[in-house]
Amino acid sequence: MSNVSGTSEFAGIGEVIRRRHSERVLFDPHRRPAESDLQAILEAARWAPTAHNMQNFEVIVVDDEATLEAIGHVRGGTSEEFVKENYAQLSFSEEELISKGVGLLATMFPPSWCRPDGWREEVEDVEHGFLDSTMRSCPVLMIVVYDPRKRAPASEGDFLGIMSLGCVMENMWLVAEALGVGMQIMSVFSAPHVETELRGILSIPDYLGVAFACRLGYPSVEPGPYLRVRREVGRFTHRNAYVAHAG
Ligand SMILES: Cc1cc2nc3c(=O)[nH]c(=O)nc-3n(C[C@H](O)[C@H](O)[C@H](O)COP(=O)(O)O)c2cc1C
Repeated sequence: MSNVSGTSEFAGIGEVIRRRHSERVLFDPHRRPAESDLQAILEAARWAPTAHNMQNFEVIVVDDEATLEAIGHVRGGTSEEFVKENYAQLSFSEEELISKGVGLLATMFPPSWCRPDGWREEVEDVEHGFLDSTMRSCPVLMIVVYDPRKRAPASEGDFLGIMSLGCVMENMWLVAEALGVGMQIMSVFSAPHVETELRGILSIPDYLGVAFACRLGYPSVEPGPYLRVRREVGRFTHRNAYVAHAG
């Protein structure tokens, strides 16, 4: 009997894991996630596994319109490093992406980000650099901060602590997905110049760093087709010994 219910529970979790996705379209400003859903997402963060049970995170929930607007005025910008390294992850056709099984379609990015020297154009495009372009209509933002001084014991570069923050992210994301709340991770919030401005707006003390931020809401338009690819299990699994796979 316990096997049967275990199996159906797994089917549910497996389905949520596969369905979880990045919601990159603009959100409907008139539809806020219910407070109970936000609490469920925070509860998921609470129960995330962390190295040594350090619980090395705090979550700043931003749903005040004026504060969201102030964050929208922060300059995001794109660095040369980002554009060059992003280029390496891009596929320029669906066929290429499907055959690689990793990375992203170039059409998801502004054309200037799809060339190794695109950052030059980006720097000249003053308008483009503000967070407002991705933050617009975002009803709720959650910013996960952590204390780098409290690193996991004997963990070089706090590798274990940083992995723990990834567990927090995934727990939150799976619960958001299960509740039908759209979520997008926004790495730009941990860029040094953005972090500096956020400190002022949100009174984040100097000793805390921004691990990641996510915007939450419901799409304002039907999201277009979005090709999500993954490698087949056999392409990353090695039984009993590591064997280099072709490609
Ligand atoms: C640590 C981390 C940082 C990410 N940063 C961003 C980001 O800045 N913007 C974004 O749109 N997606 C971001 N993502 C989402 C990934 O691009 C996305 O999960 C991946 O392309 C797979 O797509 P899927 O989430 O739809 O399955 C990030 C994901 C992780 C785990």
